Amino acid sequence: MAYDLDLRDVKGVGPVTAEKLKNAGITSVEMLAVTPIRTLVEIAGLTEDKATDVVRAARELVQIKFMKASEFLEKRKEVGFLTTGCRSLDELLMGGIETQAITELVGEYGVGKTQLCHQLCVTVQMSKDKKGLGGSALYIDTEGTFRPERMLQIAERFGLDGNKVLDNVIYARAYNSDHQVLIVEEASNIIKENNVKLIVIDSLISHFRGEYLGRETLALRQQRLNKHIHQLLRLADVYNLAVVATNQVLANPEAFFGNPQKPAGGNILAHGSTYRIWLRKGKENKRIAKIFDSPKHPEAETVFQVTDKGVVEAED
Ligand SMILES: Nc1ncnc2c1ncn2[C@@H]1O[C@H](COP(=O)(O)OP(=O)(O)OP(=O)(O)O)[C@@H](O)[C@H]1O
Ligand SMILES: [Mg+2]
Repeated sequence: MAYDLDLRDVKGVGPVTAEKLKNAGITSVEMLAVTPIRTLVEIAGLTEDKATDVVRAARELVQIKFMKASEFLEKRKEVGFLTTGCRSLDELLMGGIETQAITELVGEYGVGKTQLCHQLCVTVQMSKDKKGLGGSALYIDTEGTFRPERMLQIAERFGLDGNKVLDNVIYARAYNSDHQVLIVEEASNIIKENNVKLIVIDSLISHFRGEYLGRETLALRQQRLNKHIHQLLRLADVYNLAVVATNQVLANPEAFFGNPQKPAGGNILAHGSTYRIWLRKGKENKRIAKIFDSPKHPEAETVFQVTDKGVVEAED
C-alpha cells in the first residue's frame, strides 16, 4: 500500500480540510477513501458536498474500484497469520489470527480471554518466520485488567527480552464508551508510527452494556457499536493488522435444549466479527475453544490450558 501519499495530495483537500480530517483521526488517503460520507460530515465537520468530492478523489488516488475475484485473491494473499503461541489453537484457526479481520473471543469470566490477549501482544512481535507479524500491539483496556508483569512471564517463555516486549505494547485505558470510540478514531497515527499489527480491545462491549440500560436505548447503543466495529474493520483493512476483541456471554432464556448462553452484542457483533471463538471451561482446569459461524472454518473444537507461562496446549 502506498503510505507515501499525503492527504494534501487529494484533490479538494487544502490545509483546512486536511486539519479537520486529521483531527477526526483520518490521517491517510487510504483511510479517507474508505470512510463513509456521513462520518466525514458528523466527525470531521465537512459539508456533504465536500465530503462526497474528497472521498471520490481519494478513491481514485488509491484506486478502489471493482475487482476481479483473482485480484481479490491477491489481496487475500497479503493477509498475515498471527500465532496464538498455542499449537492446538493455531490449528483450530487454520494458521492463526488473521489480519484484515476482527476475531472475537467470547466466553464466561475467568476462561482466559484476557490471558490470550496478553499472549498475542507478545507473539505479534515475533518475526514472520516465527509466525508473528513483526509489529507492535495497541491494547485498549476497558476493564482495568491489563497486567504488564504477566507479559513479562509470557515473553520469557518465548525467549524474548521482556523490557523490549513491553516497549512495543502501547496501552490505552478506556474509561467509557465515548472514550473507547475516540481512542480508535485517533489510532491511525499511532498505528503508522509504531507499526502496530495487533489491536486488542478487552472488552469491546462492557462499557456499551453498562451505559445503555433499558430497552429504549438499545437501538442507539447498537448503532454506536456498529459504527465502532466498522471503524475497527477499516483500520484492520487499511493497515493490514489483526483486531482481537473480547466479549461476554449472557444467559439465553430462549434456549430450551440448546446452549443456555449466548454472546452479548446481538446481531451487530455477530455480523461485525469476522471470526468468533467461543471459550468455555472444561474438566480439570482445561479450556475448550470452539470456532463458530466462520466464513472459512468448519465448526470445530480444541482444548488448551492457562498456566503461569500463558496459554498452552492441554496436557493429556
Ligand atoms: N500467573 C498465572 N498462572 C496460572 N494461571 C493464571 C495466571 N494468571 C491467570 N491465570 C488463569 O487465568 C484465569 C483468568 O483468565 P482471564 O483473566 O483471561 O479471564 P477472562 O476470560 O478475561 O475473564 P473476564 O470475563 O472476567 O475478563 C484465572 O482463572 C487463572 O486460572
Ligand atoms: Mg478479562
